Amino acid sequence: MDKIATIADLREEARRKLPAPIFDFVDGAAFSEVTLRANVQDFEKIRFRQRVVKDVSVRSLSTELVGQPCAIPAAISPTGLSGMLWGGNGEIAAARAAKAFGIPFTLGMMSVSTLEEVTKAVGPVWFQMCMLKDRGLVQDFVDRAKAAGSPVLILTVTWVVSGLQSRMTRHGVDLPPPLTPSFIAKFVTRPMWVWRALRGKPVAFHNFTGRMQEEATIPAVINQLDSSVTWKDIEWLRSIWPGKLIVKGVCDREDARLAMDAGVDAVSVSNHGGNHLDSSASTISMLPDVVEGVDGRGEVLLDGGVRSGQDILKAMALGAKGVLLGRAHLYGLGAAGQRGVAKALDIIRNELDVSIGLTGLTDVNQASPEILFKARD
Ligand SMILES: Cc1cc2nc3c(=O)[nH]c(=O)nc-3n(C[C@H](O)[C@H](O)[C@H](O)COP(=O)(O)O)c2cc1C
Repeated sequence: MDKIATIADLREEARRKLPAPIFDFVDGAAFSEVTLRANVQDFEKIRFRQRVVKDVSVRSLSTELVGQPCAIPAAISPTGLSGMLWGGNGEIAAARAAKAFGIPFTLGMMSVSTLEEVTKAVGPVWFQMCMLKDRGLVQDFVDRAKAAGSPVLILTVTWVVSGLQSRMTRHGVDLPPPLTPSFIAKFVTRPMWVWRALRGKPVAFHNFTGRMQEEATIPAVINQLDSSVTWKDIEWLRSIWPGKLIVKGVCDREDARLAMDAGVDAVSVSNHGGNHLDSSASTISMLPDVVEGVDGRGEVLLDGGVRSGQDILKAMALGAKGVLLGRAHLYGLGAAGQRGVAKALDIIRNELDVSIGLTGLTDVNQASPEILFKARD
């Protein structure tokens, strides 16, 4: 860990530690992965305006996202099945790191550990769900999130049809997993991962176990994703959920306005990390449009391509209140469990601290377009 300096280093470490199909489950995205790359590359194109000789000796990085205190303007983004990165307990490991660091952790409904298990380990967490065909199941999740003391519910709206994860097809990943010599070989080269996986919680969507009419197999749960969802359903969810509500997946000015009309507290500009609609615009490029559509009626977060503290500051300069960290934390989790996520967060905090100081800010919440470099015409 001492020689790890950036999230890119953690990604390489995760590649060394995880079986190739598991690494590619995290690192890959839909079809040709154009959006996955664009999310990162469009951040890289933005440059700061370096400012000097300002007193930046005392600096603050903390903020609130939807009323929740955060040590830096970030929360952990929900990621399905990430428990399997670390002996079936990956969500709990990541949630512990987030808690110790002082940012919210979002547990996805598609997690390996249940909402109740994670809450027992670390206290209340944010919870994420998708709209499901069986509205009784949605009501059940809302009731469980209330009982678990979750202050924030994230509704993901980007996964109503599923993009093909090309790397999974190339690995021949299937259900049940093919027990061919070449597939098994991808795992035997990572004995520590296998050892943890054999001792840990079996991989399944345990939040659904015993709660569906049919057996909660992975295909049965995915089949529950409701592609007929409309803003009326969001209004209904708003009416039954008393806490803060974030809609994750708004990349369009008009959708941002409709989300606010439906009464949500915040949106996250998100294309699901490029995991479904390939060739959609990068999230950072759509952020200004969404900020305009929200028009101050709620908060705007962003996820997709955030790999550094610099990226957080760029998103804030363009109007985001903060970000959700997806792969940035998963690379840490795959590399070294809780310790790896803690490392990812430390890297990002240090980068953010340096970046605010050298753009002339003393508080991260002062970020505005003023700190961005604009070439003269
Ligand atoms: C392996 C993996 C699983 C994910 N699972 C979910 C999920 O269950 N629910 C959800 O809302 N988003 C999910 N996402 C999307 C993330 O929450 C987030 O939007 C995305 O990772 C942001 O892009 P980035 O990781 O490139 O920064 C997942 C992402 C990855 C990489």
